[in-house]
Amino acid sequence: MRLIFLGAPGCGKGTQAKLLKKNHDLPQISTGDLLREAVRAGSQLGVEAKGYMDSGALVPDRLVISLLENRIDGADCKKGFILDGFPRTRVQAEALDTALEEKKTPIDTVINFQVDMEQLVERLVGRRVCPQGHGEWHIKFNPPGVEGRCDTCGQELIQREDDQEERIRRRFEAFQKDTEPLIGYYEGQGKLQTVEALGKIEIVSGQIEAVINR
Ligand code: AP5
Repeated sequence: MRLIFLGAPGCGKGTQAKLLKKNHDLPQISTGDLLREAVRAGSQLGVEAKGYMDSGALVPDRLVISLLENRIDGADCKKGFILDGFPRTRVQAEALDTALEEKKTPIDTVINFQVDMEQLVERLVGRRVCPQGHGEWHIKFNPPGVEGRCDTCGQELIQREDDQEERIRRRFEAFQKDTEPLIGYYEGQGKLQTVEALGKIEIVSGQIEAVINR
């Protein structure tokens, strides 16, 4: 099963991909997480990507495409994967199609997370993440066991640089300009399935399970 989760910042792609990963034993590949790991590691890619990410802009295609192509070559991806936050531009979508055509393993389904973007600001402003990359929570909708602390390592949770309101707006603009047109791209391939993503976490995951079990 090879899936793409497509949707605006804060629509719940990461939350739902982690649930699906657990229930179906599929790797979750988040280019946002891979980029943040590169930033934490201080690699050349991380240094180059950081400014774009902090400001809410997309990282250039050439950096993200090679990162993704290396990751899907991993042995754990043979059984399938969930792409969370990739592709985000037409160039990325075409590069992915080409890479998967060569392996004869095309994408099966693209899940389009439908939302009203105005309602996402509260989700993103209230998100808190583990500085060691162990996960993310929400102060109101998905709080950790101990307030302000990571459930895995106990470190104090922090707010992502790009989760400040002004940068959230910039991320929405990037989504509308570069990523939203991919809805038509995948509709044209007959692979698009839309879920209503503003309900509770378990309601949205039920809709996703229904789509992939069809
Ligand atoms: P990335 O990390 O992918 O950020 P994003 O797409 O903006 O998505 P988010 O992680 O903000 O949101 P999400 O949809 O995963 O929602 P989540 O489940 O966390 O990318 C960050 C940056 O990296 C980009 O801006 C760009 O610079 C760069 N980048 C990454 N990929 C790139 C690419 N392909 N090309 C170029 N640049 C790239 O949920 C959000 C919050 O809401 C959480 O607190 C959660 O607990 C809560 N929540 C989730 N679901 C619900 C629900 N149903 N009800 C209530 N609360 C909920």
